Amino acid sequence: MTRLAIANNAINLAQGFPDFDPPKAMTDRLKEVSDKGPHQYPITMGAPNYRAALAKKCGHFMNRTINPETEIVATIGSTEAMVDTLFALTNPGDKVIVFSPYFENYIAQIIMANCEVVFVPLIPPAFNFNPEELEKAFKQPDVKAILICNPSNPSGKVFTEAELKLIASLCIKYDVYAIMDEVYEHIVYGENKHIYMNSISGMWERTVSCSSLSKTYSVTGWRLGYAIAPEPIMQRIKQYHDFNTVGCPSPLMEAAVTGLEFPLSYYDELKAHYTHMKTIFTEGLKDIGIPFTDPQGTYFVLADISSFLKKNQTDIEFCEELTAKVGVSAVPGTSFFKEKVNNIIRLHYAKKDETLYKALDRLSGIRKML
Ligand SMILES: Cc1ncc(COP(=O)(O)O)c(C=O)c1O
Repeated sequence: MTRLAIANNAINLAQGFPDFDPPKAMTDRLKEVSDKGPHQYPITMGAPNYRAALAKKCGHFMNRTINPETEIVATIGSTEAMVDTLFALTNPGDKVIVFSPYFENYIAQIIMANCEVVFVPLIPPAFNFNPEELEKAFKQPDVKAILICNPSNPSGKVFTEAELKLIASLCIKYDVYAIMDEVYEHIVYGENKHIYMNSISGMWERTVSCSSLSKTYSVTGWRLGYAIAPEPIMQRIKQYHDFNTVGCPSPLMEAAVTGLEFPLSYYDELKAHYTHMKTIFTEGLKDIGIPFTDPQGTYFVLADISSFLKKNQTDIEFCEELTAKVGVSAVPGTSFFKEKVNNIIRLHYAKKDETLYKALDRLSGIRKML
């Protein structure tokens, strides 16, 4: 869809990345680093000051002391952290539980690890799960891990403490690992609160938290991420990391430390900024009359296109037409759902105000597609 957006000069609300700048202090530091270095290989688990800054920042939010030497590895985005973790924790033939709708990378990553996916539906519009159905999945033979995106792309769901405790009790009962994708940890709205699975009683020992700087500091192209896990698991993850990628880019880790050391007010400001973008975009969708599910976190909305679809039109064809005729790109819902859906598209709003207003102006012409 990004390629199609470029070809059609459309506003790309498909692939999720900001069109505004990262914090200036980070790009200023990057300029300095380009003169002074470092420019050579870092040690494989990540530059010591990057890991120390991560341990301090993440330790604060996870409410525990994290050992930067033994419990953190720097990775190429959360993407690599997830792949390394899947390879480290599973054997070929194992099963991994995934909620549907899911972030599409997971399925490919699980297949790459020669494992099988067990889907459990998150039921719209609230995207709750049925605890009995979840336990049925845990009971299957060879289930090694549950992979959870929290806050969740594409549904915008933020798992409650009660839900996490229930999942935790099943992980403990059936001896299953929790692999958490927490890249949207700081993008939550209103009263919703992101709770780290590894902070739930009995879960530190069996949880890997994968996250990155991509979303929190608006640097998706820096490709900087990390995994946090207890030492026995981390030893295995580090080996996959070493032989997969050797290490993260040294100058970028150095510049990233500036962001990791921001005062806590930075995260409040980030939340306020995303709340502002969400308000502009969702109010605009309401005015146009496009139904959507209100996200609790992340920067995505799932919109219901039932009343705009032509007879026998697929959601993929709809998104192609939306790009070409309306000038806005979205992701077809079939990319995210195990269940048969054809009436959902995903839009994101990590954009400057002027981009959002322009996109809404274009979307107001959506009926011309009919
Ligand atoms: C849920 C989720 N996980 C991971 C990623 C990729 O993150 P990273 O840039 O850290 O590799 C994305 C990017 O869109 C995402 O939405």
